[in-house]
Amino acid sequence: MSEITMEDIGTNFRAVMRRFPAAVNVIVSNKDGVDHGMTATAVMSVSMDPPSLVICINNNTFLHEILLNQPNFSVNVLSAEQQHISNAFSGQVLPQERFKIGQWERHASGVLALEGALAKVVCKRMAAIPYSTHTLFIGKVIEAGVAEEQSPLLYENTQYCITQSQDNLNK
Ligand SMILES: Cc1cc2nc3c(=O)[nH]c(=O)nc-3n(C[C@H](O)[C@H](O)[C@H](O)COP(=O)(O)O)c2cc1C
Repeated sequence: MSEITMEDIGTNFRAVMRRFPAAVNVIVSNKDGVDHGMTATAVMSVSMDPPSLVICINNNTFLHEILLNQPNFSVNVLSAEQQHISNAFSGQVLPQERFKIGQWERHASGVLALEGALAKVVCKRMAAIPYSTHTLFIGKVIEAGVAEEQSPLLYENTQYCITQSQDNLNK
């Protein structure tokens, strides 16, 4: 019987993770007056007391460098109609052109947040935990809000997909 190699495990793990359906978000921060945003699915809540979430960011991204220096960031949860925004913020559009797509408003904390997003959370970075190729940034929530009557944009098996939220199905 052939041995399972680390490469096999990595391949299998990638296949498993592709099947995890995930909400699509745009994370935004800024440095020296320049705004920057990128698409990320690696977002989850950490605690309710205090309200906190974690984002997992590749060390090679522009946002990683920014978040090491600037404490505030926004997490903008995309709706089913905002796939074009996800595409733009995941590399299809140059960083300096990205905020021309969608309507962005400046929050009191200084970071931009997306008007019309399904939900918005503004955070203050409390910890940065490096692990291998990525860093976990834990943010304490300073403002959070949900827009009603929208379905989320989801990503699964390398494709966008759309579900009806239960609220909308019940109507
Ligand atoms: C649906 C989707 C989800 C993504 N999720 C993450 C993520 O959670 N963390 C991450 O570091 N990159 C993630 N990426 C990749 C970044 O969006 C992409 O590398 C982006 O171009 C990096 O930003 P930059 O061009 O500003 O450096 C995701 C891309 C897509 C399309």
